[in-house]
Amino acid sequence: MDDKATIQTQSRYNRIAPVYDLMEAIVERLAFRRWRERLWAQVEGNRILEVGVGTGKNISYYPRGVQVTAVDLSDKMLERAQQRVQELDTKVDLCLMDVQRLAFPDAAFDAALATFVFCSVPDPVLGLQELGRVVRPGGQILLLEHVRVNKPMIGELMDLFDPFMVRLMGPHINRRTAENVKKAGLEIERVEELAPGGLVKLMVARAKQG
Ligand SMILES: C[S@@+](CC[C@H](N)C(=O)[O-])C[C@H]1O[C@@H](n2cnc3c(N)ncnc32)[C@H](O)[C@@H]1O
Repeated sequence: MDDKATIQTQSRYNRIAPVYDLMEAIVERLAFRRWRERLWAQVEGNRILEVGVGTGKNISYYPRGVQVTAVDLSDKMLERAQQRVQELDTKVDLCLMDVQRLAFPDAAFDAALATFVFCSVPDPVLGLQELGRVVRPGGQILLLEHVRVNKPMIGELMDLFDPFMVRLMGPHINRRTAENVKKAGLEIERVEELAPGGLVKLMVARAKQG
């Protein structure tokens, strides 16, 4: 694992935590809200793990009665999530943790979710393998992610601009997350294209049985 890249990711998100919600406000209103709702409506089970919880934008979509543990690499993002938990008067176990080395035993959860996270994780395949380990066999892994557009020219432009975007904002814009899900040994059940050209995908995968 690339520890230097992980520390850089952490400090980038610590730096943008105070303005993150403001930066995302327009897209949140126009699209993300609807997509979050769609993702959380599909979750199965009672013991749920959210990775890369950020400022806690998903918290208001958590299904009633489920037990959610939510982790993030950035303590400053988590502070914002903690404020949200208090404002919404809900109960969530928040922990500072790297998805590339989760401190949970095997099969500890029924499902794991992430929204716009695997564009930033330095080793996404390792992080996805960790989700496959901590979710019970056959349990769901649900992802909402922006990915590399699989079209000539546009995909190549995304590759070209990726290093600049990483420096400027943090996330990679050319991740092939569906391929990474397969590389991590998870079984893809369904992929929904939510934005034109497949720029944003909702993916439902399952941890391997047996
Ligand atoms: C673009 S933000 C998305 C936040 C939130 N999921 C949302 O939908 O608004 C990415 C989040 O992933 C977290 N993150 C990045 N790499 C991580 C890692 N290795 N382990 C845990 N969280 C990570 C960042 O700290 C940040 O809070």
